[in-house]
Amino acid sequence: MLHLSSISDIRQQTELLRRQGKRIGFVPTMGALHEGHLTLVRAARHQNDITVCSVFVNPAQFNNPEDYRLYPRILEKDAQMLAQEGCDILFSPAAEEMYRQTPRLHFDFGELEQVMEGAHRPGHFNGVATVVSKLFHLVKPHQAFFGQKDLQQFAVIQQLVLDLSFDLELVCYPIIREEDGLAMSSRNRRLAPEQRAVAPRLYQALQLLREKLETLPVPAAKQEAEAFLQRFPQIKLEYLEVVHAQTLQPLQEVGQGAPVALCLAAFLGEVRLIDNLLL
Ligand code: PAJ
Repeated sequence: MLHLSSISDIRQQTELLRRQGKRIGFVPTMGALHEGHLTLVRAARHQNDITVCSVFVNPAQFNNPEDYRLYPRILEKDAQMLAQEGCDILFSPAAEEMYRQTPRLHFDFGELEQVMEGAHRPGHFNGVATVVSKLFHLVKPHQAFFGQKDLQQFAVIQQLVLDLSFDLELVCYPIIREEDGLAMSSRNRRLAPEQRAVAPRLYQALQLLREKLETLPVPAAKQEAEAFLQRFPQIKLEYLEVVHAQTLQPLQEVGQGAPVALCLAAFLGEVRLIDNLLL
């Protein structure tokens, strides 16, 4: 596996590969890789000639400096796992390399970012859109792979690709979970044992909400799921929403043919986790 960290090197490589007629599959990540990431890498490999994975903890998308400081960084282990999976190129730039100057451009995704993650993490999607645009330009992929785990992020990136005419195909993969249902996340590494023990309750709350929506109106069903989570004092729910799966806007009722997503964010101590379920 080729391990690159400079902008000029990755540019040169992907330019060359493109000229050789190779199809490039790209998986952008922030590292501390787990099975969720590796599933994307495998998918990229199957559908392309060359697989590129980036590992970059993007300062621009962290609204909380402590979260940025404590984000797990285990590049050597990540590189080993990627090599084992048959990844061809790992791109892991330093922050100073990616941001030689502070970007002045600002993205505004309108109502798409006025809810959930956008509402609770000011500037987050601007940072995501900035880094993903830069990475798309550098890697020049034919296909880029993302997880449903970050459902709103996928919607934002779809809008980005559409509005800026990026010449690539986006692929979204389902959420990979631990055996007890907890959605895999790099931040799970930061959970204390007692927090890890209650963390599967988040997915259980989404499953309960799905069940309650079969018989109850949205507000009552939400109340039941919120009451369930209140039984676990370690869990501080930030939001629990029933939304349109594409526009991400809150739904007052379900069952009208609109695709529905149940989404939540919660703190366990200082660690913020998100999860969702598509109906
Ligand atoms: P990161 O959180 O490292 O996630 C990288 C990709 O892996 C994202 O597309 C995410 O949705 C996917 N992923 C994470 N956990 C998953 C799981 N349990 N199952 C399936 N897919 C999962 O998302 C980011 O990084 C960043 O915002 C990034 C797009 C790299 C921009 O900095």
